[in-house]
Parts: sequence; structure tokens; C-alpha cells
Amino acid sequence: MTEVGIDGIEIWAGKLELDLAEVFAPAQGDDPGKYTKGLGLYSSSLPDVYEDIVTMAANASKRLLERKGLEPDDIGRIDVATESSFDKSKPISTYVAGCLEQIYEGDFHHANKGERKFACVSGTQALDDAYNWIRAGRNRGRKALVIATDTALYARDDPGEATQGAGAVAMLIDENPDVTALGDAQGFGSADETDFLKPNQQFPSVDGKRSMQVYLARMREAMMDFERAGGDTHPDNFALIPFHTPFPGMVRKAAVLGYRHCIRGTEIEDELADQIGRQPRPEAFDGEDEYLEAVKEYTEALGETQEYSDWYDLTVKPTLAISEQVGNWYTGSVHIARAAGLAEALKEGREIEGRQLLVASYGSGAQAEIHAETVQPNWKDEVSQLDIDEQIENREVITFEEYEAIHDVHNHDAETDMEPLTTPDNEFVFDGWGRMGERKYTYVE
Ligand code: HMG
Repeated sequence: MTEVGIDGIEIWAGKLELDLAEVFAPAQGDDPGKYTKGLGLYSSSLPDVYEDIVTMAANASKRLLERKGLEPDDIGRIDVATESSFDKSKPISTYVAGCLEQIYEGDFHHANKGERKFACVSGTQALDDAYNWIRAGRNRGRKALVIATDTALYARDDPGEATQGAGAVAMLIDENPDVTALGDAQGFGSADETDFLKPNQQFPSVDGKRSMQVYLARMREAMMDFERAGGDTHPDNFALIPFHTPFPGMVRKAAVLGYRHCIRGTEIEDELADQIGRQPRPEAFDGEDEYLEAVKEYTEALGETQEYSDWYDLTVKPTLAISEQVGNWYTGSVHIARAAGLAEALKEGREIEGRQLLVASYGSGAQAEIHAETVQPNWKDEVSQLDIDEQIENREVITFEEYEAIHDVHNHDAETDMEPLTTPDNEFVFDGWGRMGERKYTYVE
């Protein structure tokens, strides 16, 4: 059967940089270590005055289409995943198509467009939809454009403020893909949860500590469901494991739990038994509390072993290289984790063609999805064309006062007028309001 998967990726980061240790921590009266060591975040990418979810999505898409030598006629489907939409009826994909039609001769009238919603996991759901559309043979030779775009802002002084970020990831989904081919097996963990939600409001209501427990619980369910679907979860069989990364500290917590689950009954558990014993089994304990305490102790000891540390450094740590500089991009987060892992593997000269990635997506509310992808022969060519390191390097570093003003600019309820802090250069920009309250966009040379 022909492989279907990710044929190309482009990333567009918000142009402003809020330094968390040097600028945000002192203003909040916090120790910088809370951000850099605790959460594992160094800075956030934030959108300038003329940037929003549409401009970032359209700019990433334009670069992707140009780089792949594609015209509108080649694209049969445009799906945008976002939880920052400003329109409850008209999907963001129509705004993105409208932007692209300003600079292409052709149009996207033939393309099926939509918007996917389920918090951060919707980026992966849109990817799955595109995969299914092509697999079902309904694409008539066309490719799908899947875009995850968010301005992940929290209310000022919400604990989540430290994890903010803004950016877009555009992905081309096609047959015989150049980056990764998606496997058929999927695992889901899904439950009606009220840990993070936006009931008709721009900024989320968050139960931060609980959201972390819900993340871990749904991931565990998804892993077990993936195993039931026939998915292989031996930790050494994966070159990289990109997780949804609200902040790297969350992934550190999830990774050791995932490793413990996946080594159970394997030769790795046997080899570690001399150092830390075997994993506790419930039948060996009188009560649930004693069993859980023993599991906690085993997990802590496991996290201290050289074997775990080597595995984590090779398989998980590289996927955090972008997130730690840009913050949470919600729907795009797991997709920048995949891109970061591949880019770091390229820098390290790792030969990972044909190896598997285990992709662990998550969205509050809450649902986790786990699936595997196989790295394709052209992955190096594709990944070497990412310029996210330059984008991160070239961001405008802002003061705390500028940050406060920019937060207001993007707050739908605040009235602010502020000059941009950067100059647009060959890109789509927000250009004011139309007669029906729609946002309008122009391409600036
Ligand atoms: P907080 O209460 O401000 O932070 O909020 P804290 O006091 O818990 O500190 C954070 C960590 O830093 C802790 O580490 C501290 O010990 C450590 P931990 O104990 O957890 O391992 N720390 C330090 N370390 C070194 N030196 C120091 C220092 N000080 C403290 N000096 C919280 C943290 C995550 C709750 C907050 O940022 C938040 O509410 N974030 C938003 C919610 C979130 O991101 N949840 C994650 C799971 S849900 C998810 O991923 C979905 C999401 O993306 C949305 C969607 O799906 O749409 C959010």
C-alpha cells in the first residue's frame, strides 16, 4: 500500500521574544529558576501588532507551497486547527486561502476547507483527517494542507502566563511523503474533563495542577489503547518521541512514566532489576495506597538510572529544543516537537531513515492520541530547509512594558493603539477591519 504522511513542514514563529528569566521573572517577583529549571522554558514567542493566527498560518503555508513548487490547484483540502479563533462561523482556513489567493494566480475554490477543535490535540486530528481523506482515495491526486496556528495567551497573572507562545506549523500531507509516513494504529484516551477550557471567552479558565494530572491519565489510556490496536511500544524501537509540550517540565514528568509502562516485562526491566528491583505488581500488596507508594519509589529510582537518562537524552530531549525557546503553541506544540527532534537528529548526524517516531498528542478537555510514524528517505533534505533557528535568533527582544502593551493589543476586550515593534518583510499582515467585522489582510513586499 502507498505510504501517506507528512511531505513537508514549515514553521512560523511570532516575531517578538519575551525572555522569561531576565524580563518576566523579575517583574513577577519570581526566581528565574522556576522558569528555566522548573518549567524548562527560556523564552516565549509572541505576535507583533500586525501578526495573528491568520498571518502566521498564511506565511508558513506560503513558504511551504513555494518550497514544494505547488500551485493552488495542487491542494484539495485546507484544514486549520486552532483554539484561538476569532470567528465562530467562518473557518480560519477561508481567511488563509483568501490571503494566499492575493499572491497566486489560481484559487482554492475547489478545496474543502474546515476548522478542527479539540484544544491542542486538534492539530493531530486534522492530520488524521487528511490522512484518511487520501487513504480513502477521495483526493483525486491532490494534497492536503494542514495548519496548526495559535496565539496561546493567558489572562495576565494567571499561572499559565509563563507558558505562553504564538506560532503556526503548516504541513503538507501526501502520498509517498518526504518526512514521515503515518502508521494505521492509533490509541486514544478521552474523557469529559474541565481542566482547561474557554467557555465563550478569549483566555482560558485553567486548573493548572489538575490539568497536569489529566494530561498524564489520558496519555496512559492512549498508550494502553495503542497497544490494544497492535502498536509496538518497546522504548528502544523509537528514534524520537515527540510529546505535546505545554512546557518541557510536563514532558519530563510524562516521559519517565511512559518509560516505566513500556519497559514492564521487557529485557530492560530485567537488566535494571539488580539496581532498582523489579516493578511493583499490585497483587504483591495488601492495599492500593501501599502499591502506589511502591510504584512512586520505583519510578523515582528509575528516573535516576543511567539507562533511563541515556534513553531520555537520545529520544525525548531533542524534541524540546524549539519549545523551550518559544513556549506553548497549543495545536502546533506536538508538531514543533516532531520538527525539533528531526532537526536535532540531523545536526547530530543520526541515521534515522526507516526508524519509528512515537507521536504523543494531547488536548485539554481532554483527549490524548498516540500513533507511530516512519522516517522517510528524504527526511534530511526536508528538515535541512527549516529556518526556525534563524527565526528564533532574529526575534525582537521586548521589555516588560512592551510585553504588557502587546498582551493588550491581542486582548479582544482591551482598547489599545500601539506601533509595531518590527517591520514586516515579504509577508501577510493584519490590515484592519472590514464592513462586517471581519479581519482583513494584505501582503507586504
Ligand atoms: P505554578 O504554580 O506557577 O508553578 O504553575 P510551580 O510553583 O508549580 O512551579 C513550576 C515548577 O517549577 C515546579 O516543578 C517547581 O518545583 C519548580 P515540579 O514540582 O512540578 O516538578 N520550581 C523551581 N525549580 C527550580 N528553581 C526554582 C523553582 N521554583 C519553582 N527556583 C503550572 C505551573 C503548570 C500549573 C502553570 O504554568 C499553568 O497553569 N500552566 C497552564 C496549564 C498547563 O500548561 N498544563 C499542562 C498540562 S494541560 C496541557 O498540556 C494542555 C494545554 O496545552 C491546553 C490545550 O490542550 O489546549 C495547556
